[in-house]
Amino acid sequence: MGGAHAGITGARAHIKLATEQRGDEQALNKLVVRGGRPLVGRIRASGAKNSTLAILCACILTESEVILENVPNISDIRVMLEIISCLGLRAYWLDEDTLHITGAARVSGETPHELAKKLRASNLLLGPLMARKRRVRVSLPGGCNIGSRPMDLHFKGLNSLGADLDIRSGYIEGRVPGRLQGAKVYLDFPSVGATENLMMAAVLAEGQTVLENVAKEPEVVDLANFLNAMGAKIRGAGTDIIRVNGVPALGNPVRYSVIPDRIEAGTFMVAAAATGGDVTLERVIPPHLEPLSAKLREANVRVEEREDSIRVSTPAPLLPINIKTMPYPGFATDLQSQMMTLLSTVPGTSIIVENIFENRFQVAQELRRMGAQIEVEGRVAIIEGVPRLQGASVRATDLRAGAALVIAGLMAEGVTEVHNAHFVARGYRDFEARLNSLGADVERK
Ligand code: UD1
Repeated sequence: MGGAHAGITGARAHIKLATEQRGDEQALNKLVVRGGRPLVGRIRASGAKNSTLAILCACILTESEVILENVPNISDIRVMLEIISCLGLRAYWLDEDTLHITGAARVSGETPHELAKKLRASNLLLGPLMARKRRVRVSLPGGCNIGSRPMDLHFKGLNSLGADLDIRSGYIEGRVPGRLQGAKVYLDFPSVGATENLMMAAVLAEGQTVLENVAKEPEVVDLANFLNAMGAKIRGAGTDIIRVNGVPALGNPVRYSVIPDRIEAGTFMVAAAATGGDVTLERVIPPHLEPLSAKLREANVRVEEREDSIRVSTPAPLLPINIKTMPYPGFATDLQSQMMTLLSTVPGTSIIVENIFENRFQVAQELRRMGAQIEVEGRVAIIEGVPRLQGASVRATDLRAGAALVIAGLMAEGVTEVHNAHFVARGYRDFEARLNSLGADVERK
């Protein structure tokens, strides 16, 4: 499997380093949007960012080779590639969306602080590292500023598997006397990250682990399928209970294709509806988008599903709706800001309740600068539709808020400048070019 690209060795030479990328980001950190053009055309979804981040962490568990297809080349993924390279894995791009990764016979147990602090998902290194090392030191993660994001559920679960964990000077320090031991773990809340971490820790543990009240997100299922392809024994991913029978090692070389990104696709769907456009999303899994499709239909958007595509159009005036974010299959918190933007010009009153991340309403303040009428009280936002938004200078506070503000710019009269555009690059591949291919006018400056 690995011979086809002999001569290409370490990851550092072949992956655009996150540090270089940061240089680009500082230079081009503003998106200028000229509004008023409906999005029309067809666009292909990228591979799922959140699946890929977890799967790259899972590569720590193998000494074998992995070819990973449908990988989005976005800055969060590049940072994660740099982190796993520092831990001893080798990775390089075979083409624009395929990675070749070689597992390490010996992995380092300490994550590089400068990189890990940039990425919330670096907390997913803890489970696989604890499965392979007696001692680990994982930098406390950074990432989007959308709420407190504690790790108590990860800790409780890993404790049950026999790990001792402490936080010392910005690091999580973990110790385990020998192999992790299978156990029964009940999560108080179906956390995506805790489910993924515990699943990765449990695959190499001794005996059976039963994880209850786990997250059912499609990305959890994708990770389980990937782990099983490497030789893990996981059943039940996608339901409330996951059973993992520990194995001594994961030795299968794997070629695996990441699922389509439902959040990226959903963002384009909302953008299509918000601009009164007509867009077909290709290479998606429509059931993964059902929570969004159902709400768009309720708002009078036409959503037509085929086997692996979805067409979104707006033949009639839109209607106000109410949304509550919930764990999957509820409405995704990662699509909430985009929907708030859409609803800001729908006549009548819409209400959004944010149940997952308490800071996800920061975008409301920016939308108000564009003329939106949104009142926020705790976890509830009340949106009174205004006739139109006006272009303004606004600031992205997190990844999805950034995407939402670009959508607002597409809807608005005049020019909108979205500052802190590096947040958008964390999660959306070639965002402006792909929007422009649908008729938008967005420029990175
Ligand atoms: C993942 C996604 C993120 C998405 C979120 C919810 C990745 C890389 N990120 O984030 O895009 O918005 O799921 O769908 O996959 N919580 C605790 N204790 C814990 C862990 C979580 O209280 O130990 C709480 C969090 O504060 C939050 C809620 O649980 O309120 C959901 O968090 P979680 O599902 O863990 O989200 P992430 O895995 O961080």
